[in-house]
This record gives sequence, structure tokens and C-alpha cells, in this order.
Amino acid sequence: MDDLTNEEIEAVFCLADEMAESMGEQAGVCRGKIMASLFFEPSTRTRLSFEAAMLRLGGQVITAVDIGATSLAKGESIADMARVVGSYADIIVIRHPWEGAARVVADYAGVPVINAGDGGHEHPTQTLLDLYTIRKERGAIKGLKIALWGDLKYGRTVHSLACALARFGASILFRPGPGLEMPEHVVRKLTKEYGGELRKCDVGDQPTRGDLFSLDAIYVTPSTPHQLAMMPDISIQVELEKGVDAIYVTRFQKERHAQGDGVQGSGTGYPVVDKRLLKEKTFRETLVMHPLPRIDELAHELDADPRSMYFKQAARGVPIRMALTSLLLGARQLDASTVREPAGARKTDYPVYDRGFGVMCQNRNCVSVNEKRYIKPEFRIVSRRPLTLMCIYCEHEVHPRYVASAEWHEGTLESKRYHSADSHWAGKIRLENLIAFDSESEARSRGFKPGRYTRD
Ligand code: NCD
Repeated sequence: MDDLTNEEIEAVFCLADEMAESMGEQAGVCRGKIMASLFFEPSTRTRLSFEAAMLRLGGQVITAVDIGATSLAKGESIADMARVVGSYADIIVIRHPWEGAARVVADYAGVPVINAGDGGHEHPTQTLLDLYTIRKERGAIKGLKIALWGDLKYGRTVHSLACALARFGASILFRPGPGLEMPEHVVRKLTKEYGGELRKCDVGDQPTRGDLFSLDAIYVTPSTPHQLAMMPDISIQVELEKGVDAIYVTRFQKERHAQGDGVQGSGTGYPVVDKRLLKEKTFRETLVMHPLPRIDELAHELDADPRSMYFKQAARGVPIRMALTSLLLGARQLDASTVREPAGARKTDYPVYDRGFGVMCQNRNCVSVNEKRYIKPEFRIVSRRPLTLMCIYCEHEVHPRYVASAEWHEGTLESKRYHSADSHWAGKIRLENLIAFDSESEARSRGFKPGRYTRD
């Protein structure tokens, strides 16, 4: 999501509107172009809507849907695959179980690459059609109250959507299943980069009776003079009873949970959206959204309810993906007035840690951990105290325990010392000189010895 500015997203919506109105007249837009669609995880909507989009634009599609049928199964790297496929196709769409995989493909392919879902990390094109649906149904996104529901820990759709909602000025209500709260790195992005405030909820904040809708936390956007933000003492309950604009339901991501992690899906406290819930005053005009597929978390009895949006959402995937594809291929241009500087949506430019040693990403699904042969670990230093590095591939955070300074040791073995990352000494190290270590053994293996402040 960070690769598109809000203005660019608006431009995609405008073009999607135009294309949706004249679906049958777009067949010349991408004539002669080839899309490679690489789907190494199950998919119905995303793959077929991308392929339908390309065919409606007059282009053609080559596809691979099974890692076992590609040379990745023989041990080929994602980078090599990207280089080769980039020489066959004009644009690549990739879904892969590793977080950060689409980024690696983009680094090597030499053609535009679209992330169609990278493990539990992000699913930005789903977010485009989700935002498009909210905007179409509600007219605007700013100031809305949107509830994110279900598996917020591993649901890549809600990670992308939460950040986009914050950027467009919506407030977010978190209703996770037990043990499925939003990951730290998403919460940090919401609060530190988009500047909003996250409030943990208690019993008195619950908008409906009992456990029908028990909120975990609320993200209050800074961009509107919102009542919740302006009056810290106002009851969240009173505010919420004025109505929730949308509930975004997600299924339990069973394929991403490690066996034995103790977290379970439906039937075990996982929140369900059904007629009974929607009878509450809070939800009288609430849009019911879901990226699909659904399992048990969204009752079929709601399908005919006019508030239900999920099949409309899926249908809107085609014009959205037509618009995005034609823009990336340069077959349609963005209106120059919509692309304002500075490009890129990320507000905060963190210093980079790219020494390539000392610290590894701890996320076993990160592409940098699985393709160590050629990917050098790289992080952004997102906090000094506690020292926090964020992997540029999967965005998971690590907290190195020890640090040293590249300047102080002056190349002599006697002065190569490492210190505790939380010691006052560590704070004196200039960021450009920082060397971080996961462990003492890592520091020692690089020839560093314990310093005076190794343990305070
Ligand atoms: C989602 C996905 O793949 O992340 N599906 C989709 O693309 N529409 C949601 C899910 O699988 O739960």
C-alpha cells in the first residue's frame, strides 16, 4: 500500500469507474501485452479477476498456479524466476506464501509487479477494491468508523486495509478473535506513521450487550476533529451507538497458524456476524464486508440483506484491477494533477540498517529468512529506545540485545566492545555507526568482547 499515494489511489478509482461503465470497449487498451499470473497459494477471486481484467483490456495471460510445477520446486530462487518471467511478460502478478516475496520479485523482474498476497503480510489490491466499495457506498472514507473483525493477526487483507483506512482518515474498531490481535508492526505504523491514537477498550466501552461485539481497541484518526479524539472522557459506547459504518469480517487463517500455537478458529470464541448481531442499533446501516472465502464467521442468512457487500466487492475487483494494470503498463496515464510530490505514501523516513550481519529477521515466513543465499537482511531503525529494527521485507520487528559502534573500535581488536542495547552507552552511538547483535554469541563471533555496559 505504501507504494501508492492517496492521490494515485483516487486516480485508480476514477479510472475503474470509467472502465466499469464501458467494460466492452476496453479491448484495445492492453492489446499485445502479456501478464504472467503466478499464484503459489490457493486463489479464486484474485487470480481470476486479474486474468479477466487483462483479457478485458485485450491483453493475454500466461499462468503458473503450483510451485510443484515450476522450477522453484527444484530449488530455484525467487530472484532467478523473477528475472526469467520478467523477460517473457510485460507485467507480473504474484501470490506467494512468504512475506516479502513480491518485493523480491519486483527487485529482479525489470517489469511492473503486483503483490496479490504475500503470506500474512499484505494484500494491497484487495484493499483497493475494499476502499472503492466503501467510497462508492458511503461517498467518502474520511470520518467513517470501520470495524475489522476476526483474524487480525494473520489476515493480510486487514493489515493493508487498516493502514489505508488510517491514511484516508477513518477510525478503526478492532474486534479480533481470541489471541488474534493486530500485530505490533501494524499498530506501530498506525500510531507512529499516521499519527493516530490507539485506545485499548474496557468493558464499559462495549457498544452492545454481552459479548456480541466486544472491542479490543479503537484507532482514532488524527485527521478529523473527531469527538473521540477531542473529548477523551466521552464514552466510547455513546459514540459507537451512533452507528458503525462497516464491519469487515475475515476468516480464521488456519494455514498460517503454527500447529500447537493454541489459537483456534470458529466455534471457540471466534466472532460471528449474523442476523442477531445486525439487529443491534449500532449496525442499522452498517455495510457487511468480507474479502471471501468465508467459513463459519459470516452467516449465509445475511446474503439477501441489502447491507451485505461481499459479492459486490468481489465483482468490483475486475474494474479495479483493469485500472491498475493499464496504469502500470503505461497504457493509460494518470492525470498529472493527481500526482503530487512527494511521491510515496510513507511519511516517516527511518534510518536504514543494512550491514547484512548481526541481526536476522525472526519471522520464519519472511522471504529474507527463506532465501538467505542472496538476500541480505535489511532493516529500518524505527525506534532507539527500546532499540527496534523493522525488516524491510516482512515489516516484522526485532529487538537486538547488544550493540557496538563501528567508529569506536577503530579497527583494533582491543577496543572492539559490545554493550547492552538498553544501556546509556548504547544511546551515544551515532546511528550511522550502529552495529546491532541478536545475541552475545553473534557479537563474539564477529570478534567483539563484552564491554563495561554489557549488562546494565
Ligand atoms: C483473501 C486472501 O487471500 O488473503 N482472499 C482474497 O484474496 N479475496 C482472504 C482469505 O483468504 O481469507
